[in-house]
Amino acid sequence: MRHLINILDFSIKEVEELIDLADDIIANPEKYNEACKHKILATLFFEPSTRTRLSFESAMLSLGGTTLGFSSASSSSASKGESVADTIAVVSGYSDILVMRHPKEGAPFVARKHANVPIINAGDGGHHHPTQTLTDMLTIKHEKGRLNNLTIGLCGDLKYGRTVHSLIEAMSRYTGIKFCLISPKELALPGFVKKNCLEKEGVEYQEFTDLEEAMPQLDILYMTRIQQERFIDRDEYIRLKDCYILTKEKMELAKDDMCVLHPLPRVNEISVDVDDDKRACYFKQTLYGKYMRMALILKLLSLKDEKEKDDGKEIVLSETKCSNPHCITTIEQEIKPLTYVDDHGTTRCAYCDKMIK
Ligand code: NCD
Repeated sequence: MRHLINILDFSIKEVEELIDLADDIIANPEKYNEACKHKILATLFFEPSTRTRLSFESAMLSLGGTTLGFSSASSSSASKGESVADTIAVVSGYSDILVMRHPKEGAPFVARKHANVPIINAGDGGHHHPTQTLTDMLTIKHEKGRLNNLTIGLCGDLKYGRTVHSLIEAMSRYTGIKFCLISPKELALPGFVKKNCLEKEGVEYQEFTDLEEAMPQLDILYMTRIQQERFIDRDEYIRLKDCYILTKEKMELAKDDMCVLHPLPRVNEISVDVDDDKRACYFKQTLYGKYMRMALILKLLSLKDEKEKDDGKEIVLSETKCSNPHCITTIEQEIKPLTYVDDHGTTRCAYCDKMIK
């Protein structure tokens, strides 16, 4: 059985098949009306969501299936102390495919081991968000006509922004990609993405603290929200929260065909007067999300008999516990510490990919 925990769980070919399937769904929606008849999608959201959860539900209903689930940890037995493993083992019996979002990094990695249905990661802490990336790629393909030869500006919270991490991992596999990483120093891209993806794959990147300086060269500007809920120091959040605001004036520095994306929700980082600009694609992006999730549900259900993909990491039991306060291992004591050694010889937690100190 196949799962989608990390965008790299799918090969480039599989991602392209998903894009083609989403395009066929857009062109011929009636063909898919009953494609998931009698199938049940479970949506387990231990953390808030509007677009991701509702687009998954809308996707399953448009495929003729049904949905069940919860939209907050407080309305599930997690609030009584039930583990992720037990929740997944139970809900696997009530559904054919399961989508989960959790505030702790590595929670879907735990879930996968206890599930007998495909698991889709809809966001784990500040780690990964592969279905947003598939949505972003479908949007880029439609708006720019290609997935290669692009200069992509990523602006805002690159430290905790999980959509950014997954998008970098996915787009680094294409040729002619350059990333402009625009963030305050405190919110720079973490080592597990910079070292194990950009540097490992030899992808060109440049770091900026100033949005205006990067703007003229961008084909895509991917704005992100400063992830308030991940900050340990509230004063730091207050100091950084309005560090980038995209305005109509700043848009004058951009190429005529630059495309502005944002996974949403926006807080203050794109001024509403940018919404009328033909380059503002973030609301279109939300609609692509529904079609891509229809394609993903169909694909994972059709791959049920396939073997799980081996990501090549040699994972071993460790004596040292992960010290990342956002890692799932810090709240669920019975989870065994697991590690792997990356290509730079650094030992990392198998759940959250943070360096083991
Ligand atoms: C993002 C998320 O949850 O990571 N939203 C989404 O899924 N569309 C971005 C965010 O919350 O800032």
